[in-house]
Amino acid sequence: MKVFRDTKKQHQWSLKEHSKGLKPGLVPTMGFLHKGHLRLIQNAKEYSDRVVVSIFVNPTQFSGGEDYNKYPRDEERDLELLEEEGVDAVFIPEPLEMYPEGYETYVVVEELSKKYCGRSRPTHFRGVTTVVLKLFNIIQPDVAIFGEKDYQQLIIIKRMTKDLNLPITIISSPIVREEDGVAMSSRNKYLNPEERKKATVLYESMKEAQRLVANGITDVDALKKEMIKIIEKKEHLRIEYIEFVEPETLKRVKKVGASNRILMAVHIGRTRLIDNMKIKGQAE
Ligand code: PAF
Repeated sequence: MKVFRDTKKQHQWSLKEHSKGLKPGLVPTMGFLHKGHLRLIQNAKEYSDRVVVSIFVNPTQFSGGEDYNKYPRDEERDLELLEEEGVDAVFIPEPLEMYPEGYETYVVVEELSKKYCGRSRPTHFRGVTTVVLKLFNIIQPDVAIFGEKDYQQLIIIKRMTKDLNLPITIISSPIVREEDGVAMSSRNKYLNPEERKKATVLYESMKEAQRLVANGITDVDALKKEMIKIIEKKEHLRIEYIEFVEPETLKRVKKVGASNRILMAVHIGRTRLIDNMKIKGQAE
């Protein structure tokens, strides 16, 4: 497994693989890998000839006061896992390699970045799209795999790829959940045991909404009310948003249909968790 810390070396390696007629697939990550990431890597293997994983805790998607400094990192373990998974190359740059002195260029997907998570994190998606476009330019993948766990991010990246005519296929990969339904996330590490128990309410409340829709309740306000009831049974939780949306445009709906998606963000103590679920047709 090749490990590149230098953008030029990573770029040259990718060009060489292309010249052999091989298609690189990219799995962008911020490290501290879990089973959800390993699923993305398995998907990447299906769609490409060479798998590149990037590990970069991207400073531009965190604002002041967010968890950039304490975001969990474990490079040694990550590299061991990636070696075991049979990954071909890992791109693991330092912040100054990606954002050298004088850096001032950003790419913004205007409207989609303002909604939902963008309301409480106004510069977050600008940082995500900028770093993803940079990774695409450096690594030159034919396909890139993103998890549905960050559903708004996935849709924004699809939009950017289409709008900027990037010759890259974006593949989405379903959420990987713990046995109790909690979506896997590096940030789950922040939860203390009591908070971790409470974290199941996101999944439970979305399952309840799914059940109610199956029983014919389609009014969004009624569904939200039932979800809020479940969440408010637990103490010290703060709902940031619950939305029912069109899957591709993320436009809000008032009446729910099978293809719609529930998006939600809930604060448990000092940890902010996001989750989402399709109303119907998904084994979750
Ligand atoms: O989903 C993530 O881990 C990050 O937002 C990404 C896509 C790697 C960009 O930093």
